Amino acid sequence: MKRLTVPRIRQRKAGGVTAEPLVMLTAYTVRMAQLLDPHCDMLLVGDSLGQVIYGLPHTVAVTMDMMAAHGAAVVRGSYHAAVVVDMPFGSYEASPQQAFESAAHLLKETGAAAVKLEGGKILAPTIEFLTNRGIPVMAHIGLTPQAVNILGGYGVRGKSAEEAQSIVEDAVAVADAGAFAMVIEGVLEPIAIEITQKVTCPTIGIGASAQCDGQVLVTEDMLGLFDRTPKFVKKFGDMAASVEDAVKQYADGVRDRSFPGPDQLYQPVEG
Ligand code: KIV
Ligand code: NA
Repeated sequence: MKRLTVPRIRQRKAGGVTAEPLVMLTAYTVRMAQLLDPHCDMLLVGDSLGQVIYGLPHTVAVTMDMMAAHGAAVVRGSYHAAVVVDMPFGSYEASPQQAFESAAHLLKETGAAAVKLEGGKILAPTIEFLTNRGIPVMAHIGLTPQAVNILGGYGVRGKSAEEAQSIVEDAVAVADAGAFAMVIEGVLEPIAIEITQKVTCPTIGIGASAQCDGQVLVTEDMLGLFDRTPKFVKKFGDMAASVEDAVKQYADGVRDRSFPGPDQLYQPVEG
C-alpha cells in the first residue's frame, strides 16, 4: 500500500466537496501507529504527548527532541497514512526563519510528510514561507492549547460575535497562506461549518462539527485509556479497564504462585 501524500489529501476536497471524510488520530509510539495505520488517512504526532505520555500539565514544556523521537517511531510504524508532526511551543513563533529551521529539522529527523502549528492570521506569513520552501503545513485554529497561559484554560472558542469573526478570519488567512489542511478545535459548531464551506483546503474537526472535511481525536482519549473527558471525546473503547483487568490477573497469579505455569517454563530434557 502506497503512503498517502499531502496533494492526495488536499485532492479529497477537490471542487469544494469532501465525499469521503478524512480520518485522523494521534499516535506517539510504533505499536500504536501499526494498529491505527490501516484505518487512518493521517496520523498526528501531537504535542498532546506532553500530557498523555509524559504527564506534563500542558503542552508548553514539550521539546523538539520529544517530537523528533516520537515522530520517527510513528513513521517507522506506518506505511499507509501521511504522518504530521506538531511543532512544539517556542519552535516556530518568533519568525518564519525560526519556523523553517525547526520544521526542516523535524522532517529530517522523522521522515514525516508535514508539520502542524497553532495560530491564525499572525502565523500566515510563516505558513507561506514554509510552504514555498517545500514544507507542507497543517494549521490549527480555534482552541489552541499552546496558548493556555494567555487563554487561561481550554474553554470553547467563538462565543462572542467578535471572536467568532476572528476565528473565521484566521481560517481564511491560513488557507490563503497555503496551509494544506487545518485543524479546527473547540469552537461553536456554526463557526466550523462556515469555515468548512469557505476554505478550499480540508478542515479537520475536534470538538467542531461532523460537517468538517475530517475528524481527529487523541487516540488514548477515544480508547478510554487516558483520564481526560472533554465533551468532544467519545469513548470508543475502555482500554483502562482491560489493562486493569489483565494486571490484576497477573498480580494474583504471582501472589498465589499460579504464574508462571507449566506452559511458560523450561524443563531439562529427560534421559
Ligand atoms: O496535540 C494534539 O493531539 C492535537 C490534536 C488534538 C489536534 O493537536
Ligand atoms: Na497539538
